[in-house]
Amino acid sequence: QMTDRELIERISFVKNSLGRDLYLPGHHYQKDDIIRFADDTGDSLQLAKLSAANREAGFVVFCGVHFMAETADILTDPDQQVILPDMRAGCSMADMADYDQTERAWEALTHRFGNTIIPLTYVNSTAAIKAFVGRHGGTCVTSSNARRIVTWALEQKKRILFLPDQHLGRNTAYDLGIPLDEMLVWDPISDVLEESVKTDECRVILWKGHCSVHENFRMPHIENLRKTEPDRRILVHPECTWEVVQASDDAGSTSYIIEQIEKAPGESKWAIGTEMNLVNRLIQSNPHLDIVSLNPFMCPCLTMNRIDLPHLAWSLDRIDAGKPVNVVRVPDQIAEDARKALDRMLELV
Ligand code: 13P
Ligand code: SF4
Repeated sequence: QMTDRELIERISFVKNSLGRDLYLPGHHYQKDDIIRFADDTGDSLQLAKLSAANREAGFVVFCGVHFMAETADILTDPDQQVILPDMRAGCSMADMADYDQTERAWEALTHRFGNTIIPLTYVNSTAAIKAFVGRHGGTCVTSSNARRIVTWALEQKKRILFLPDQHLGRNTAYDLGIPLDEMLVWDPISDVLEESVKTDECRVILWKGHCSVHENFRMPHIENLRKTEPDRRILVHPECTWEVVQASDDAGSTSYIIEQIEKAPGESKWAIGTEMNLVNRLIQSNPHLDIVSLNPFMCPCLTMNRIDLPHLAWSLDRIDAGKPVNVVRVPDQIAEDARKALDRMLELV
């Protein structure tokens, strides 16, 4: 059992000796312990672009969750190996859309609406779902480009199927002026489309998935703050529910949240509705501001937190020993179709 200090020394040593053969991107939700070693930090879109741009590193040790490592593998060259320090670092939202469910939904929806639908998937989805979307003319979305991409999709077809996060889908479409009664929910557990009087006019079909971290920011948190501290600005991630986003002052991706805090006037008060590690880091690095988590119990993403010093040290050690572990390799056929979906997105933003 190594102490944290020994682990840090070991990681620094291997990182130095691998030099530019190693690239270590870190998502904003990673622990401070990991962020300190990151070559770049970013939101999902930035990390996808940065991984795609790096043609130099033989090893990309992705400090984030599994779908991000898959995306990096799809966008890098075949001789670059993408490694996820702990394979249990999944994403519960990505797991809410499996391939068979998606095929069944598509069959039912195209039977009902004909050739008037285009599928979009949040990048928080498996490579197989991205491939499905790529094969059907659709593309991917991140929380920082959702408006642009949904606008594009609705220029292509009358309707979109938005996977797997109903909240990002609903928040984005509403922002673009689509009323809630033109949005329907597809339940992938019972294979049922929620019906309404406007079913035939519907523009957006939302997959019934959500982020279990962001659903913990709730209306009573906002109501309580509005009563006790009306001057505290509430800033949330668009994976929060529509009600919460509407009741907040502003919403945006992790990098948008960081930008807003970076330009906040001194001593201003903020309540932030996103993952705990990012909120804590914003609190630590902005002592001139008064920042709290919108949910006072904080909200960690358990899977993001699986990437820790022991796993990072272990995965780097194995690279150093010439026997890499936890290599994320998307099968060629899936990668090819998923790349179509990702490339379409990257061309649009
Ligand atoms: P962004 O970093 O793109 O805002 O996404 C947040 C998230 O939940 C990633 O899993
Ligand atoms: Fe997935 Fe939510 Fe964690 Fe992001 S915060 S990785 S969407 S479970």
